[in-house]
Amino acid sequence: MQRPSTARGAAGSGAVLLLVLVCVAVLPGASGGGGKMALGGEARGVARYCNKGANVEAAPPPSRTPAPPAAGSPAQFRGQARLPRFAAPRRYELRLRPDLVACTFTGAAAVSVAVSAPTRFLVLNAADLTVDRASIRFRDLGPKEVVFFPDDEILVLGFANNLPLGEGVLSMKFNGTLNDQMRGFYRSKYHYKGQMKNMAVTQFESVDARRCFPCWDEPAFKAKFKLTLEVPPGMVALSNMPIANQTATGPIKTISYQESPLMSTYLVAIVVGLLEYIEGVTPEGTRVRVYTQVGKSNHGKFALDVGVKSLHLYKDYFGTPYPLPKLDMVAIPDFAAGAMENYGLVTYREVALLFDEESSAESSKQNIAITVAHELAHQWFGNLVTMEWWTHLWLNEGFATWVSHLAVDSFFPQWNIWTQFLDATTAGLKLDSLEESHPIEVEIHHANEVDEIFDAISYDKGASVIRMLQNYLGAERFQKALASYIQKFAYSNAKTEDLWAVLEEKSGEPIKNLMNTWTKQQGYPVVNAKLNGNYLELEQAQFLSDGSPGPGMWIVPVTAGCGSYDMQKKFLLKGKSDRLDIRDIASQCGNQEKGGNFWIKLNINQTGFYRVQYDDKLAAALQTALQSKKLSLMDKIGIVEDSHALSMACKQTLTTLLRLLYAYREEADYSVLSHINTVSLSVAKISVDATPGLVGDIKQLLIKLLLPPAVKLGWDPKNSENHLDALLRPVLLVALVKLGHDKTINEGIRRFGIFVHDRNTSLLPPDTRKAAYLAAMQNVTTSYRSAYNDLLKVYRESDEAEEKGRVLSTLCHCKDKNIVLESLNLLFTDEVRSQDAYYVLQGLGVETRETTWLWLKGNWDRITKKYGGTQQGGFIRYVLTLFASNEKAAEFSRFFATRKNPEFERTLKQSLENVRINARWIQGIRSEPRLAQTVQELLRRP
Ligand code: BES
Ligand code: ZN
Repeated sequence: MQRPSTARGAAGSGAVLLLVLVCVAVLPGASGGGGKMALGGEARGVARYCNKGANVEAAPPPSRTPAPPAAGSPAQFRGQARLPRFAAPRRYELRLRPDLVACTFTGAAAVSVAVSAPTRFLVLNAADLTVDRASIRFRDLGPKEVVFFPDDEILVLGFANNLPLGEGVLSMKFNGTLNDQMRGFYRSKYHYKGQMKNMAVTQFESVDARRCFPCWDEPAFKAKFKLTLEVPPGMVALSNMPIANQTATGPIKTISYQESPLMSTYLVAIVVGLLEYIEGVTPEGTRVRVYTQVGKSNHGKFALDVGVKSLHLYKDYFGTPYPLPKLDMVAIPDFAAGAMENYGLVTYREVALLFDEESSAESSKQNIAITVAHELAHQWFGNLVTMEWWTHLWLNEGFATWVSHLAVDSFFPQWNIWTQFLDATTAGLKLDSLEESHPIEVEIHHANEVDEIFDAISYDKGASVIRMLQNYLGAERFQKALASYIQKFAYSNAKTEDLWAVLEEKSGEPIKNLMNTWTKQQGYPVVNAKLNGNYLELEQAQFLSDGSPGPGMWIVPVTAGCGSYDMQKKFLLKGKSDRLDIRDIASQCGNQEKGGNFWIKLNINQTGFYRVQYDDKLAAALQTALQSKKLSLMDKIGIVEDSHALSMACKQTLTTLLRLLYAYREEADYSVLSHINTVSLSVAKISVDATPGLVGDIKQLLIKLLLPPAVKLGWDPKNSENHLDALLRPVLLVALVKLGHDKTINEGIRRFGIFVHDRNTSLLPPDTRKAAYLAAMQNVTTSYRSAYNDLLKVYRESDEAEEKGRVLSTLCHCKDKNIVLESLNLLFTDEVRSQDAYYVLQGLGVETRETTWLWLKGNWDRITKKYGGTQQGGFIRYVLTLFASNEKAAEFSRFFATRKNPEFERTLKQSLENVRINARWIQGIRSEPRLAQTVQELLRRP
């Protein structure tokens, strides 16, 4: 699925900082006084939708005071990873009044705080808020000092004397802006009856609840929330809990909601707008609704159905009922991530929730099912049981990713979703083969480091090691242990080791030792396999894409199949090397020497998070087994993915990879072919630089590989065709267009021409549109731009997020640099929602990369201004990785040396590493003696 970057504006204006300074300046002895203080800070962005693999680096460590602060001064709380524990919130009463026209809000908070150790301070988070100093009271006492530290986003309230132990109420009034950054309390725009309207929406994960109300903004400070909203009478206003009470007086409707159970601040949510809904109910009686802009609610049916089913399934799987009285799911027109699991009020971007049989692609359906199943899994794993600290974020995200596949597999067994799960494993393996990766359990020193870890390590490696563990323990044991983990930590918080402890207790296996090697160190091994008589000799070494040796060592759950899937060998590779006696399974293998059915596949069905490199004999046997259709879909994917990675790391030749790819010629399965497709496009891309003279032939060879299944499917969907074929068609057609297959391009252009005049033509349904758009873009030039104009027209006339994204993703697919520039410049207009910028960047190609890089350099300040640090990571990644030379990497480094920003530092480092890896791969390919000859030979084969 697509993973756009988040759009986060650059906030934190000088004015805000100035006010903060004023505040800090009046600090000494300041008490009471009616002043208001503006709490602002540097903008930080959430590192995703979908920005997995393209992390954003955290801000620099907070500037420390030169001398250590006096123990009794507010400054002692600066520069800490976490808030002090001497006071903790128990219950928040919040009243908020958003003004949807002025885009501001006012609020009042009354928080019951339990003071557990002697202190005269209360320390809590706040940012981008103006707090009315005079309104601050704790147990009727006004604070002597009120200090805001913007680097730490903390508000320190110093009282004259030590506070009484036990519970007291802290109250204050504040106000803020409904911002345009899609975080905190923000506004989203939509059309209603031809008019532009604002919606007020919250997005608090990871650390942005503090931008809406002052709070203890850490996952372990669970409290109960009792919200009241004051909104215009015509508006729908939603929050985590059902409405308890509603009154209207004049232009204001006051809605109070039931009190929530114990929950973390990052899960609190509010949506206010003109919305309509459809409704369903689970067998247990939980009411589920899908809310949308007016006119779109019937597109919520599919998600509603998946939602109802998911709640039902998870209740059984976790052995615990859904904890809240209702569930609402809302489509938000401007949304940074894909979706957010707010307790009882899950928010989504429109494309991740809304499906229309007429106008949505088949892939959207699957994306919606996975997203809904993912967010609803969080209602248990994340919301009911919450990570103790962000170091354990992977428990949330890795687990939800894994279990969403379990749910979707049970609802749609025909989708073969576990085979598709290998997309996640592939993404995890890819990112984790970089020196610039990080461990799953990553130390967090400061809140501003949190957003960068929403990446392929937390999600995809996390989910993959859970799958590995489940496989090792068996499904039933694993589920039972999980259910008791959920019950044990319900309404509370847990660490990674808490999960291991429960699993260990329930299974009697040494889970902690095994799993620590996967979650506490970065990277993963490649297992080298050699056959020596009756023994399989195995040796592990850390796999790095730059070919260098790494120090890592893992406990690897090795599985091996020999000649059949019936009998498998399982064992733990604990040291550097070991050997496996395979006499018992070898009997079914046939004769090694004579061939027969002899093959050995390690990592059966790719359940392990590692790669395998076989010796020549084993590799040849596997290729034969592959051609004679002896291997499972997952193993076919694993073999080609490992070979691709080994080739990139120059541990194997491209020649070998091409021969292997050719062995997939008869393949018809969607998942396998989608991996073949990405590997093929990667090969085509690298050959542009590595072997310019051969690139045409290599593309022909790849076309030869992908054309037969494409011809079989054709452009037109068959009646009652299955889901996977419907997914496969666009993958193949798009690949053929990109590889320059004339016939496909011409057909795409023909169909596009008809579509332009008849948007309802059956010749171009949503699934095949992208291929046709790309084909049409192929011939566009500045002087022959009618297809480009047509596409812009389609974009402007559509009110569907999916269609808009589809068009955007094709606008840079053009050889004419002026057109590419025109498309890129759209990113500075109001025509493209900032949540959608990544679509445009996705379409960039190698041919116009110099122009693109010049554009990036020349517009860097503008990009910074509009997209802020976080989303800039996406710009960097998409543009830099078009290149593959050390010189270019050096040039990029020089450019960014004076433009450092912690929010994209990690992305930058990873992108540079990828550029250098590709440069090295090119050198390797250039020295392959038999590449050209092999390409010719494979092209000649009948
Ligand atoms: N908790 C995340 C949303 C999120 C991401 C919040 C980053 C803050 C920062 C949510 O559960 C999630 O993982 N959403 C995914 C979709 C999912 C199907 C993988 C996303 O937004 O990509
Ligand atoms: Zn999630």
